[in-house]
Amino acid sequence: MVQRRTQVAIVGAGPAGLLLGALLARHDVDAVIVEQRSAEYVLGRIRAGVLEQTTVDLLREAGVADRCLKEGLTHDGIELSFDGALHRIDFRALTGKHVTVYGQTEVTHDLMQLRAGANLITDYEAEDVQIEGFDGEHPMVRYVKNGVVQELACDFVAGCDGYHGICRASIPRDAVSIYEKVYPFGWLGVLADVPPVRHELIYANHERGFALCSQRSKTRSRYYVQCSLDDQVDQWSDEAFWDELRRRLPAEIAQAVTTGPSIEKSIAPLRSFVAEPMRFGRLFLAGDAAHIVPPTGAKGLNLAATDVGYLAQGLAEHYLGRSRAGLDQYSARCLSRVWKAERFSWWFTSLMHRFPDAGAFGSRLQQAELSYLVGSRSASSALAENYVGLPI
Ligand code: FAD
Ligand code: DHB
Repeated sequence: MVQRRTQVAIVGAGPAGLLLGALLARHDVDAVIVEQRSAEYVLGRIRAGVLEQTTVDLLREAGVADRCLKEGLTHDGIELSFDGALHRIDFRALTGKHVTVYGQTEVTHDLMQLRAGANLITDYEAEDVQIEGFDGEHPMVRYVKNGVVQELACDFVAGCDGYHGICRASIPRDAVSIYEKVYPFGWLGVLADVPPVRHELIYANHERGFALCSQRSKTRSRYYVQCSLDDQVDQWSDEAFWDELRRRLPAEIAQAVTTGPSIEKSIAPLRSFVAEPMRFGRLFLAGDAAHIVPPTGAKGLNLAATDVGYLAQGLAEHYLGRSRAGLDQYSARCLSRVWKAERFSWWFTSLMHRFPDAGAFGSRLQQAELSYLVGSRSASSALAENYVGLPI
């Protein structure tokens, strides 16, 4: 058995865990990350692509924003497609803000490099991870690495282990309230080394279902189509995907789509989920471990970043002996933002997707709401303000 001690044990090396580790290092707080997968597996997961300014600011604070600032694409708006036409929502004009298109994979890569360069410990491929003692004074993370039991004693545990992780599940059931909504469809996503069809993202409402034209760079595109929850990825050939995508876009955009072989193809279910509170004793939940939003509003990674921004601040103040207020207010501060993002993500998802039981009335209402949205400055501003992100 190997026994070690750290100040903060972080479970999960996704963006939440890695960013928390980087921010704590800036404040000279010692942390060890325990991750069940390999580094290659974590880097291979293709997910988010849109960063709010607040997230970029946190990356800067963590000392890891250089490549994002250099290679990230500044987007001043998005386009909504419905009734065969495109309508632009101008973030810059409506809010004075923009978003940055820079892949979660790149954020993860940059954070991993930073950790490796600073000799900060991340224990990958940890098996049978368990947390104990977080309801008292002496928490511990126990796991098995290369067949050897590891005991990591700590002051606090940060549960950054995503929706399927063990941290939330380790809290007594009667101490958490769960709020959940599962949507009756999924997103089929394709990544391909082809130039994006437009320089900004297109969110399309179409009678065959939602479609999203996103991107990672000037030469790499990320596209999604709404699909059935019964669909299997291997049923979707690249050709079938490109055909379906083009059917859901206005004719002139469909013609302009450059197709090519997919380098990744996956199906994601859509869910809204919140666990309250986000703290139990010396365990703090952050990111997808505490909440999930459907991806339409591009909020998941950004929420994870603001959670760990608050947590790093609270822990730093605690270790400086200044105050416990940041830790005591952590859950309430996060949840106030989380519910705003839940509302927006639910609303935008409901507006843009085909729901099996909506009927003709539901479709006409969506059309009416979309027309109102693009025709009203205050409605467009509300969309823009929520999309670019609320100030911290
Ligand atoms: P995760 O990324 O899930 O990381 C959790 C980590 O914990 C994983 O590495 C996992 O292996 C590890 N782990 C799990 N269990 C254990 C255990 N028992 N022990 C140790 N480690 C464990 N968000 C946006 O902001 N913008 C977008 O544009 C966007 N687009 C998306 C598109 C899609 C298709 C999807 C699926 C998601 C999208 N998101 C987006 C959401 C975003 O990807 C997530 O919110 C984000 O990954 C959350 O980060 P996290 O670190 O909290 O969790
Ligand atoms: C991407 C994903 C989203 O959920 C979104 O709303 C915008 C972009 C993406 O993967 O690029």
